[in-house]
Amino acid sequence: MSVQYIEKEQLFVLETKNSCYQMTVDRTGCLRHLYYGKRVGAVNMNYRYRTTDRGFSGNPYEQAGDRGCSFDVMPQEYSSYGAGDYRVSALMAQAENGSRTTDLRFDSFTIAEGKYELQDLPFVRGLSDRVHTLTIRLKDRVTSLTVELKYGIYEEKDVITRTASLINDSDVKIRLEKAASVCLDLPYGEYELIHFTGKHCMERQPERQSIAQNIITVGSRRGMSSHHNNPFVILCDPHTDEDAGFCYGVMLMYSGSHKEEIEKDQTGNIRVVAGIHDDGFSWNLLPGGRFQTPESILAFSDEGLNGLSSRFHRIIRENVCDPLLMKEKKPVLLNSWEASYFNFDENSIYELAREAKELGMEMLVLDDGWFGERNDDHRGLGDWFVNEQKLKGGLKPLIEKINALGLKFGLWVEPEMVNEDSNLYRNHPDWALKDPDRLPVVARNQLVLDMSREDVREYLFTCISRLLGENNIEYLKWDFNRSISNVYSAALPPERQGEVPHRFVLGTYDLLARIREAFPHVLIEGCAGGGGRFDAGMLFYTPQIWCSDNTDPIARLQIQRGTSYGYPVCTMGSHVSASPNHQTGRTTPLNTRGIVASSGAFGYELNPALLAEEEKQQIREQILEYHKYYSLYMRGTYYRLGGEELNRNHVCWELVSEDGSEALVSLVTVNVEANAHFPFLRLKGLQEDAVYRLEGTDLTVTGAALMYGGYTTEEPRGNYPAVRLHFQKI
Ligand code: DGJ
Repeated sequence: MSVQYIEKEQLFVLETKNSCYQMTVDRTGCLRHLYYGKRVGAVNMNYRYRTTDRGFSGNPYEQAGDRGCSFDVMPQEYSSYGAGDYRVSALMAQAENGSRTTDLRFDSFTIAEGKYELQDLPFVRGLSDRVHTLTIRLKDRVTSLTVELKYGIYEEKDVITRTASLINDSDVKIRLEKAASVCLDLPYGEYELIHFTGKHCMERQPERQSIAQNIITVGSRRGMSSHHNNPFVILCDPHTDEDAGFCYGVMLMYSGSHKEEIEKDQTGNIRVVAGIHDDGFSWNLLPGGRFQTPESILAFSDEGLNGLSSRFHRIIRENVCDPLLMKEKKPVLLNSWEASYFNFDENSIYELAREAKELGMEMLVLDDGWFGERNDDHRGLGDWFVNEQKLKGGLKPLIEKINALGLKFGLWVEPEMVNEDSNLYRNHPDWALKDPDRLPVVARNQLVLDMSREDVREYLFTCISRLLGENNIEYLKWDFNRSISNVYSAALPPERQGEVPHRFVLGTYDLLARIREAFPHVLIEGCAGGGGRFDAGMLFYTPQIWCSDNTDPIARLQIQRGTSYGYPVCTMGSHVSASPNHQTGRTTPLNTRGIVASSGAFGYELNPALLAEEEKQQIREQILEYHKYYSLYMRGTYYRLGGEELNRNHVCWELVSEDGSEALVSLVTVNVEANAHFPFLRLKGLQEDAVYRLEGTDLTVTGAALMYGGYTTEEPRGNYPAVRLHFQKI
């Protein structure tokens, strides 16, 4: 069994294939974290702890004689504010009498087979995996606030999920001011932090830094997980690289404002607290009420960062993304945005579809501009009714004509937004988030709908289900094009305004869940001005997300590589666009654009009518190749390849089939040099003794040779050249 409670030692032991997680109830009744790392056998890791009298670290009252006993220096499983732990807390609650002290002590536990589920939030699915759930209850004996910690132990997939529920067991109100999902104390060792920063058009860039005695805060206050800081952090040994060394990942399954705090304390302990951002957050927990925090996913790897990524990739691909949709083949699509922006009519869209079909694509996606008075980005959001002046006859005949070509049809929507210049806003100005006495901040000329309101969600559900019910729409692109501000709901009283940011996210999840339930076969691609809401929460509903508004393949190399630390290739919406690129003006070969975009949920975003015949032929071949390698792209184990020497001029990655019998290596040269070194790489994940043939050549060589001896590619020439190498076991 993957969870054990050893009563004599008051010890909880959680074990996955390669990792072990331990907690103990100490003599104060405090739930102490003991260990997370590589499996250690039947050892109580408490032997590592030493205590001493640390100045200015007070003692619990009943232990006053023992100056070594302090909550301030003990590794805690869920830290709370006010009772002598001065480090970052996971919980801050205000009692009815105004006190902000919470003192959590062990109450009870249960162990069950299977995985717990969450009601209104996304969660990692249990499916047919061997999973156990451990529930531990902690209680504050004065306020009767109970914290229920849940652990989902995925033995084979080597990950642990965590979440916390706050339950008010008293008969008076308790106000939550901070309620994180996870607190992880790593008591000994030296660690570095990797987090994923960025901006619009350059998301998820890894930043690696050492951790000094201080607090590092990563997060977003934008009401969305954001382009700027992804809700995913890695802690690693300073020597850890892609292929070797210890590392830990903490990923929050949440799409709203989030915060990850990393603190190194006076004893060298590293604490990570991750959860909903507490700025602007408060929650009135009424008697008998329960507040559910978002789920987090934890993984440990002693096989470097690639090993850590593969654990996240697998659990996201198989247990976060909807298995029903993951069984269906993702269609190669042509998206109309960069092909025609707002300037189209029913004929030009049909023409795009005809060309798409002719090139071997499988779906036409009509992007922004088909509804209301939407001829630019100033108006129309909220009016989800087709603009019949633009699309004469409406959507239905157009979709039927496109279907008759043998193509599927997809449509763009941006449900959570509204333009002031829209019928929706004119009829319901109180449906937008805004302060009663201030002019709201406007971004891309739009405001944000109050998704905490049931009437707003009902309106959106009616509009979207009418569109999906009346038309053969097989895909939705669900966009979100601004950060949230002026978070104030006209439907809630002043003392509940702190609930609005989280209620907004719950509202969006609720709407997505309803649509998924009513139309389970419609594939939804998430989007937020590209990858501004690229998180495991959205992936629960939308198994692919438009990775970035930047479609330049050279920029995409960095964006997709950064994204790959946490998220698998199959989740990254990625398209071949025109050259010169619309965002950067850079000119790149079509071959390179194809190689980069095909490591993703693949498609095109250009006007094929503007291409030369030989480019069209190249696209036909790209699509055939994509189909040929589809299962490697969608399910292969992903490795970022190359050491410093290779990475100076090239970006290289590999996808390997689960049994190691097939591998696809892609290499793009960013900076071509004269008289250069040959690019040299060592493959990963092959069978040592098997013999592989490099497709299109006579080369046959063992897996061991390719993995340990490596492979040298031809000298790259020209602008941004790219090669793709397919090795197949013979
Ligand atoms: C932002 C998206 O990321 C683009 O792909 C496109 O859909 C536009 N919005 C449309 O407004």
